[in-house]
Order: sequence, then structure tokens, then C-alpha cells
Amino acid sequence: MGIVKQMSIHTPKIEKKVTLSTIAKMKGVEPITMVTAYDALFAQLFDGEVEMILVGDSLNMSFLGKNDTLSATMDQMIYHTQAVCNGAKLACIVFDMPFGSYTTANIALQNAVRVYQETCAQAVKIEGGKEKSEIVKALSENGIAVVAHIGLMPQHVRSEGGYKVRGKDEADIKALVEDALALEAAGAVMVLVEGVKAEAADAVTKAVSVPTIGIGAGNSTDGQVLVWSDMFGFFESFKPKFVKQYCNGAKEVREGLEQYRNEVKSREFPGSEYTY
Ligand code: KIV
Repeated sequence: MGIVKQMSIHTPKIEKKVTLSTIAKMKGVEPITMVTAYDALFAQLFDGEVEMILVGDSLNMSFLGKNDTLSATMDQMIYHTQAVCNGAKLACIVFDMPFGSYTTANIALQNAVRVYQETCAQAVKIEGGKEKSEIVKALSENGIAVVAHIGLMPQHVRSEGGYKVRGKDEADIKALVEDALALEAAGAVMVLVEGVKAEAADAVTKAVSVPTIGIGAGNSTDGQVLVWSDMFGFFESFKPKFVKQYCNGAKEVREGLEQYRNEVKSREFPGSEYTY
């Protein structure tokens, strides 16, 4: 055989499929790790290392190159979630409902049913506070698990004129806690808290009995999520304060590419070891 099969020597940290009940039991016991993924290749890399993968509508920015998430569509999100499902067999997968796909309970239900029928996602995520309770209730009552996304909501970027950090005063912390409690009462299985002061995320985490996942929300939520292209240094347009870069992906790729270019130009590549 001309093709050498590469054997992976990596041992995954997680060995069993992570379910929503596994995640529920982690609250107050062990911090939950979540990253985004948009394709099978990276989903496979992340699988077994983190409990959860979010197919975020952030793919519209980091993958499609748009300025915000608003033009992501159901078809696009389903396509990418199918790819993630092909790559990740252990992680609990969450589907991010795109802008306009949950404007009423009926529309939300039709779209979320599609998610369960066409992908392996275990939950859908919707942005919004207590005003979305009826929608969360309709989905939950029909057997669809919902992650409620509160705080800074990227789908509101145009209506709010930018990305605004929340929870800066007592009144707003109270409003966020009320949102979280209403969404939990409506059936949300998790609350994702984005772009809020740490005290606000702490108050929300203490108020609800479901796990909270934070992004730009300090250190006391039950888990953390980061967008993969941010955390691995591939997305260079801007770097929010809350993003820690765990490697410099763009630099590594550029260096590799430069070496490849030089070797092709000098006819060093492909040498005899890469030739049939
Ligand atoms: O779309 C996304 O990646 C998200 C995260 C920022 C939580 O919603």
C-alpha cells in the first residue's frame, strides 16, 4: 500500500458520550469546558477534550468573513452542525439558532424540530431574556432542550449600536438575574452568560439551579466557552479583552506557508521521500 495510515497516540480525557444530564450534574462539582467548532476536522480535534461543542453563529464572522452574525441562516447552521456531528462523537453539541429563526414560538418550533431531525445536536441556543420565556417553554414542552443566552447578545449588535457589556449596576444585575430565573422556569437547561461584569455572572450562577456557561463573564460561572478561532489566534480582525490566546495559529500557518512556498520555488519539495 502506498498510503501510510497515521495512528493517533493521543488519549482523550473524556471517554463516554456527554449528555445534558452529565452537564447538569457538573454544576458546583467541576467546571464545564465548551468551545465552538464549525467543521468535522476541528470537531474531531476537540472531541474528547471538552465536554461541549457549540456550533455558534459566530461562524458567520470567523468562517464566512461577515461583519456580524445576523445573516447566518438555518441551512448554513444545519450544514455546519452536520459536519461537526461527523467529527465529534463524545461532546455534547449545541446548535446556535440564527437571527430570525425564533421570532415566534411556532417559527422557533419548526426550526428547532429541523435541528433535531437533521443533525445530532442535543440542544439549541437562543439569545434573549425573559421576553423569550414563551418560546423556551414551547420548545421545552415539545422535547427540545434549550440553552438560554443572556447578557451581551451579538444578534442585537445593530439594534443596540454595538457590543455593550452588561451588569454594570445593581439594577442591571437584578434584570439579568430575573431573565435567568424566568428562562430556567420556562425550561432552559443551561444559561449562557456573555459579556457581563463578573459580579453579575456570579449573581446569575448563584440564582439558578441549571449550569451557567460564561464568555467574558469572569470566573465564577459553572463553565466557560470560547470561539475556537479567537482562542487559537486565527481570527485577527479584533481580540476582545476576555479572549486568551492559547496558541498563535495565524503565525504558525504563515510560517508553514512561507516554508512551503520557498521549498516549492527552490524545487526542494517534493523530495524523494514524498515521491512515488
Ligand atoms: O456564536 C457563538 O460562537 C456564540 C458564543 C460567542 C457564545 O454564541
